[in-house]
This record gives sequence, C-alpha cells and structure tokens, in this order.
Amino acid sequence: MILTVGPTPTVQRRMTFTRIIPNQVNRALEVEQLTSGKGVNCARAVVRLGQPAGTLLFLGGESGIWMRQALEEEGIAATVVEVPRRTRTCSTILETDTGTATELVENAAPVDAAAVSAYIAAFCQILPNCRLVTFNGTIPPGAPATLYHDLVYLAQQHHLPTIVDAQGEALLAALAARPLIVKPNRSELAAATKRDCSTDAGLAEAIALLHQGGARWVLVSDGAAGAVLSYQHTLLRLRPPVIKPQNPIGSGDALTAGLAVSWLAGHPVPDAARFGIACGAANAAGPGYGRLDPALARQLLSQVQVEPLG
Ligand SMILES: Nc1ncnc2c1ncn2[C@@H]1O[C@H](COP(=O)(O)OP(=O)(O)OP(=O)(O)O)[C@@H](O)[C@H]1O
Ligand SMILES: [Mg+2]
Repeated sequence: MILTVGPTPTVQRRMTFTRIIPNQVNRALEVEQLTSGKGVNCARAVVRLGQPAGTLLFLGGESGIWMRQALEEEGIAATVVEVPRRTRTCSTILETDTGTATELVENAAPVDAAAVSAYIAAFCQILPNCRLVTFNGTIPPGAPATLYHDLVYLAQQHHLPTIVDAQGEALLAALAARPLIVKPNRSELAAATKRDCSTDAGLAEAIALLHQGGARWVLVSDGAAGAVLSYQHTLLRLRPPVIKPQNPIGSGDALTAGLAVSWLAGHPVPDAARFGIACGAANAAGPGYGRLDPALARQLLSQVQVEPLG
C-alpha cells in the first residue's frame, strides 16, 4: 500500500451561503463535513485511483472518533495515535453570489514527546506493508521539525521511495535524508528558501538549493500554471490541461497521489509527474479534497504538455 504520513488531520466543514452579511444571522444553504488534512486528501486520491492507501495520524476527542469511523467507511486504512486533545475542525465558507471561498483554519493541537514516540513506533510497524511513503503537510506543535527527516531516513533503510510535500523547516530538514521527490508549491518554496520565485531564474535558484540540500527530484507545483520538474541540471515545465475549476483545494495532494501511483506502476518520474498534473487538474475540476474522478484524470493526461523551462 501507499502510506501517507499526515500528522495534522482535520475535520473539514464546507458551508455554502448565498452571501455572508457581517453582523447578521446567516443561514447556510448546505453543510458538508468530511475528513481532511493533506495526508488524508492524498490517501483518498490514491484510493480513488484504485490503489490501497493507509494514513498515519494523530486523532483525539469526539472529532477524532468521528474521523476514524469516516476513514474506515472510505476504505482508507488509518493507523491512529491517540492524543488527549480533540482533532481540529477547519471550515470553508462558500458564497454562491460572488463565488468567494473563505478558509477558517484552526491550528493543530500540540502533541507531547510520548505521542511523537508512539507515532514513530507505529510508522516502523507499518513500513513492511508499504511500497511507497508520502509525507504531507505540516508537523504539529510539540513534534520536532526533524520528524519527516527521521521517518524518510527509516523508509530509505527499507528501500522505500519517498515523496515529501511539506513546508518550512520540516521540508528543509527532510532533504538531508535524500527523499526521492520533494513537492512544495511555489509559495512554499519561496518561503522555505527565502528566494523570490516569481521569475524563472529565481525559481531555478531556489530549486538548486533543494538539490544541494539532498533532494533528488524536485517538483514545484503552481496551481493553474502547472509545475516545474527538476533533476540534476534539467528543468521542465509541465502545463496542465485547461479545466473549469470547481474546488482546487487538495490539488497538490492529488498530484502527489497520482505521482506515487504512476511511479509504482513502473513509469519514470517525468511520466509519473505528468499523470500527477492530470490528477491535480481533475481534483480542481471536481469537489476537491482529493475526490478526483480517475477517468477524468486519465483523459486529461494526454493534454499535459512538457517543455524546457526558460
Ligand atoms: N485551476 C487549475 N487548472 C488546472 N490544473 C490545476 C488547477 N489547479 C491546480 N491544478 C493542478 O494541480 C497541481 C497542484 O496544484 P497546486 O499547485 O495548487 O497545489 P497545492 O498548492 O499544493 O494545493 P493543496 O496544498 O491545496 O493540495 C498543479 O500543479 C496543477 O497541475
Ligand atoms: Mg500543497
């Protein structure tokens, strides 16, 4: 199975209104609740693509119990490290009049050293059942920034390929463990490397820093603009198909899922990245959070264009 390491899951509420009027009672047209967080979104996309997926996560409280049940119903094999603090809830407020989407984000609760040790122990136990490991999203307060580094290192010792989709210190620290692919988005790359990534030259400079740190392949996603793939001294731009976006949240997670599934099917990284781009676009064309239509992803693949950067 593909394991997604996603230590900051969330209950995700999506509330749709005609229009929000501040200081007034606003009644939702529709409310939806689903399991989310980047590791969960990625595992969901893997399952949609027809492959077994597991996710390793901290869960706590009533919301944690609800998430565990919901993940089971979706066919995602959750390995849970229980923590005392309840699992967070994040909300998306959609307004149909204006098409705006407002994100209300609750930070993940802190975890203590015992919970982190239990997380690492659980990871070691699942590793023999895994074919590839992805690392998705932020690390909770209380866990060391080296958590992904240490887990990538353990995965490498089991000869397992790894994909790191993280930000900040967690991303930079993971590089030294030599993950197969790192996948920040453009703004995460700019923030982590403190480089201006708005030009191709700046982007190339920031990517070079990730390679110097230990990354083998680097894939920088950039929403509707697609992504840039880098290996040694070759940089390619991957242009996604034009779609009618519905909800792009989780497109990066869908990209990671597609990349992982295609790579495991025997495709070289550039081809797997093209499929990942198609999966990201298919996610954006649908209801988001990794709920992609696999037939659409396969159909969009032929429309992904690859060209040299610059
Ligand atoms: N509007 C869009 N049209 C076409 N493709 C898109 C669109 N939005 C996203 N994608 C595809 O999905 C990929 C990942 O999207 P993006 O760069 O927004 O990821 P992200 O910022 O990591 O998202 P998240 O963290 O919410 O999962 C892009 O590289 C692109 O291929
Ligand atoms: Mg992302």
